[in-house]
Amino acid sequence: MTIHIGAKPGEIAETVLMPGDPLRAKWAAERFLDDPVCVNEVRGMLGFTGTWRGHRVTIHGSGMGMPSLSIYANELIRDYGARTLIRIGSCGAMQEKVALRDVILAMTASTLSTPSSGIFRELNFAPCADWGLLSAAARAAEAKGATAHVGGIYSSDVFYDERPDLNEQMTRHGILAVEMEAAELYTVAARHGCRALAVLTVSDHLISGGHLDSAEREGGFAEMVEIALESAFT
Ligand code: HPA
Repeated sequence: MTIHIGAKPGEIAETVLMPGDPLRAKWAAERFLDDPVCVNEVRGMLGFTGTWRGHRVTIHGSGMGMPSLSIYANELIRDYGARTLIRIGSCGAMQEKVALRDVILAMTASTLSTPSSGIFRELNFAPCADWGLLSAAARAAEAKGATAHVGGIYSSDVFYDERPDLNEQMTRHGILAVEMEAAELYTVAARHGCRALAVLTVSDHLISGGHLDSAEREGGFAEMVEIALESAFT
């Protein structure tokens, strides 16, 4: 047990999928894993371990925002031996060419700061995905016929952003989408020599103002979980 995770030693797999929402972790575990067992309920942050095509997998919520994700990623890696961590979540598109339901594979994650930023002092560390996971995810998405975009995203600290000018600069510099967790996941994983990737579904569009309804979100989510699982084990 750690401060935030109630799992016993050995109950967390080396491969962990991390949705923001704990109920999404439950839904994905019940839908995709064989024999899922709930291994964490501390503070309502649910984690499940089971198998997918014979491989042990944990699906554990991260919560919203980088401070929350950082707590879970640190404990999963340092205390439970997680080695491959894949964020599965939603994002807001920042480019015209990106449509609702498209998949974003985040090659890099720009930020104003992460919970790890203090380590780097005046240096701007460039959080990036693991190439093996990223390239396997791109192949998996293509094989499914999913429309996937590979490129940079923006990990923001705010959902209700009072600085639209900053979003404009992101769009101008080719950033595909905004979310709130990947940069810290990539940074913590890099620090510990682990593999990390964020596979995201576009749930809303910052330029057109469109949104997916809840049924459409679920469909997009299933495709994303499959891509994440396939990337981890190819
Ligand atoms: N901002 C930040 N995170 C998000 C958004 C957004 O517009 N959409 C989905 N995750």
